[in-house]
This record gives sequence, structure tokens and C-alpha cells, in this order.
Amino acid sequence: SPPSIHIDPARIIDEVDPRIYSGFTEHMGRCIYGGLYDPGNENGLSDPNTGFRLDVLDVLRDLKVPLVRYPGGNFVSSYRWQDGIGPKESRPRRPELAWLTEESNQFGTDEFISWCRTLGTEPFICLNMGTGTLEDALAWLEYCNSSANTFYANLRRKNGHNEPYGVKYWALGNEVWGPWQVGQMESQDYAKKAFQWAKALKLLDPSIKLISCGETGYADWDRVTLKKLAPLVDFHSVHQYTVSQGKHLVNVMGPAAAEKGIEITRSLIDLAKIENGLNKDLTVCFDEWNVWDPVRAPGEKGAEEHYDLSDALAVAAWLNVFVRKADIVKIACIAQSVNVISPIITSSKGLFRQTTYYPLHIFSNLMRGSSLDVHVTTPSADAVYTGPTVPNFVHDLTVHTPDSAKLTKYVDVSAVLASDAGRREIRVAIVNRSDTKAFTVPLLFGPNAKVADDIRVYEVWSPDLKDANSFEEEKVKTVVKDEKFTGMYTLKKHSFQGAFACVLL
Ligand code: AHR
Repeated sequence: SPPSIHIDPARIIDEVDPRIYSGFTEHMGRCIYGGLYDPGNENGLSDPNTGFRLDVLDVLRDLKVPLVRYPGGNFVSSYRWQDGIGPKESRPRRPELAWLTEESNQFGTDEFISWCRTLGTEPFICLNMGTGTLEDALAWLEYCNSSANTFYANLRRKNGHNEPYGVKYWALGNEVWGPWQVGQMESQDYAKKAFQWAKALKLLDPSIKLISCGETGYADWDRVTLKKLAPLVDFHSVHQYTVSQGKHLVNVMGPAAAEKGIEITRSLIDLAKIENGLNKDLTVCFDEWNVWDPVRAPGEKGAEEHYDLSDALAVAAWLNVFVRKADIVKIACIAQSVNVISPIITSSKGLFRQTTYYPLHIFSNLMRGSSLDVHVTTPSADAVYTGPTVPNFVHDLTVHTPDSAKLTKYVDVSAVLASDAGRREIRVAIVNRSDTKAFTVPLLFGPNAKVADDIRVYEVWSPDLKDANSFEEEKVKTVVKDEKFTGMYTLKKHSFQGAFACVLL
């Protein structure tokens, strides 16, 4: 069918939660060391006192990151947080079991909190449910949040931090279901253990928000753990990655499969609430998402993906999903924020913005406000992806959706009604996923909505889908265009037209 986009500003889904533009920093590859933390950088790029890379902070500030998850990821499942506090010269080096490296512990909890404060973002800590005990977890929470005259609160004071950190978000383990995880568990075992941890953590600090460890959002693990943990947790975590394998169609369709997963998670949450007789907020924390092909960029080698335009379109499609699902997805963390599968890459001499930085920047800066229901008619791919399934997860788990053919839509859209610019503006984010076809699309705004004919378009496009950025050259970036709106708009092949903004009269 010919493409068309219908948006009615009266049809509000929910407020876009700014926390969907959150980040993630793991002790993995060059994310922390040589990424955001680079003491004594020979080119003067780091703060002389803290060792924080100032250029990294500037770029993350531009991305308006509201919340950052730490310290893993897989890393956390054998991490002793106590090794990373106190005088740096006394901190032990330890074997690191997730990525098979060594951990120097020069960057730990105090440095992370200080980095978050410098950036102006909120910390989110993931607990070690692998080698860690409940006693360790309670000690970490006490160290961070307690104002009492007790051992770990006093240890924080002794380390120079008088005021409690007030860390609000605490996750009950990372990917505990995965065979790669130190301390992998069966769903029932995890659910029972996490329930006891949640109870104790909330006794120590009732103000915290807890996040249960989910899987893909549509796995039996999610059903079992939600049923048990729903009374005690505030968010259920989901992880998915788009595995591009160099295939454009697979890459850009991954987020569509994730959207299906989110709908299933919503139902599992509803079911858990019904079974437990609950009337409470329990939403999705999609705390790892991105394009990652672990064959192209293996985790053990630091997972430094070099993204091209095709990956940027996938990231735009991911963000469209989170905006469309604004009523259920309240936190989403791009994995990760620096160097490791990241929108920015550093060297000792500077950094560059990858292709994926640009859609993220457009969304985080502009796609805030009320998420609007969009109705899109769109042509689908001529040749539907015919693999056994739509691969979308890093560890070769796959989405089995009976209607995956229907997911191969070319035109992908989200929209918000924003009033942050002192006027009411409809902002539309449109991805044309076709690598061969341009489409001229009517944009229709409800019967009672009149829009001005001056529009501003933020376009991410390049002639070749394989175009990428580097330290030397920036081929893919945002181009801002002021145009006249005639009711129709032409979407170039493989393009992202972000925050196509019209003023509501
Ligand atoms: O983000 C990289 C890794 O992917 C994380 O450590 C882990 O949680 C996931 O498998």
C-alpha cells in the first residue's frame, strides 16, 4: 500500500520518560579505563584531579544522559565492590571473569558517583548476584545511602564522602539466566533468592527502586520471575541487541522484534499483577539495547563496533520503539556509553562521534514530551527475510514471531507533542529502512490540528549505507534543514528524518 503517516495530537499515549535516553558504563574493554577515565592523559584531555576525560563528559552532556547504569553487565557477577574503595594504592588487582582480563580497581564506587555528579546524571547500580552475597549487597547499599552511625556509612565518611549518595536505582543481578554468567541460576532459584534480597534491601532503604533481572521480555524466565518478584520490584529489566551480521534488513528489523517483546512483557507484568492482587507501578527497564554483532566486535576484544549508516538507522528505529511504548518503557540504557559498542570512540588524542551518535542526540534533545499514537501505512520489503527467525539477540537467542514477515515495514515512525520551545510542536521521527527506494509520504494531522508550513528537519543520511565516521572524517551526521511543508514529504532511501518539527497553530 502507498505510504502515509497519520498523527492526531489528541491521541496521547503517555509522557516520554527522559530516562529512555539513559546510558551504561561497564568495566569492559575501554569503556572505563582509557574511555571515561584516563588519568594523566598525555594530551591534557583529562581533569588533573579526577582523571575524568573532559571531552567525553562534554559529549555525554550534549546527549543529555539522565541515568547511567554501572558497573556491569557481565562484569558485575564476579565484582567485589569493596575492592574499589579507599586509597588507590591499596586496592587489589583481581582476575576478571566476564571478559577474562584483570581489574585494577582504580575506578570504583566513589569515582563513579563523582563522575555522575560531574556529568549531571543519576547513578544506577547493578548488584552482584553471582559471587556476591546478600551481605555484600546490603553493605554496598549502606555505603552509598546510609546516614546512620554504622560501619559502611562511616567507611564512606572515612573515604572523604560525608553526605550519603542517595543512589535510587538498584538492579537485582545481570542476565542471571545466561550460561556465560558467573552464578547462572534457574528461574525459580533466582526468583526465590531475589525475593529475599529485595525484602532486605528495602528494609535498609525503603526509598530505593528495585529492578528485577529479566531476559528478553518474552521468555519463560520473565514470566516466572515477574510472578514472584512483582510485589517487591519497581521495574523489570529486558536486554536485546540487534545482530546486524552485515545484513541491512536484519539490522533494521531487530528493533521491530524487540517491540513485539515489549508487548509480551507488558502482558506478563499485567498477569503478575493480577496473580498477586497488585495495584502498583511496574514498568520496563530496557537496560541494554543497541546494535552489536559479537562476531564483528567480540566482547573479549573490547567490543569496539565501528558503526555505519545502516547501524544509525537501526538505532533510530530502536528509539522509535521506546517512544511508541512510552506507557510501559520508562528506562532504557544504550549499551554502552563509551568505546564499547558505543556512539563515541576515544583515543589518547581525542574522540569521534559514530554514526549512531546522531539519531541518539536528536531523540534525546528533541523527542521529549507526550508520545503520540501514529498510524502508518507502509510498503513492506519485497523479499521478506527468510532466515529461520529474526536474529536479534547477542547470544544467538532468536525471536520466534509467527508474523515476522509483517515486521518488515519500510517506513517506521514515532511522534511527540512537545512544548519545551515555548510553543506546541509536533515532532516526528521517520526512518526509511529501504536501502533502494525513496517514498513520498503524506503527513496527516487529525481533523482539528492545524500546523504551520515552516518545518525544521534534522536529517541523518549519506549516499552509501556503509558510510561511517572516523577520527579523520565524519561522513554521517545530522544536517538541519528549514523547509516549507506542503502536506507531503519525500523520504530519501535509507534515511532518518528526525524531529521533523511542525508548530501546532
Ligand atoms: O553490554 C555488553 C554485555 O552484553 C553485558 O555485559 C551483558 O550484560 C550483555 O550480555
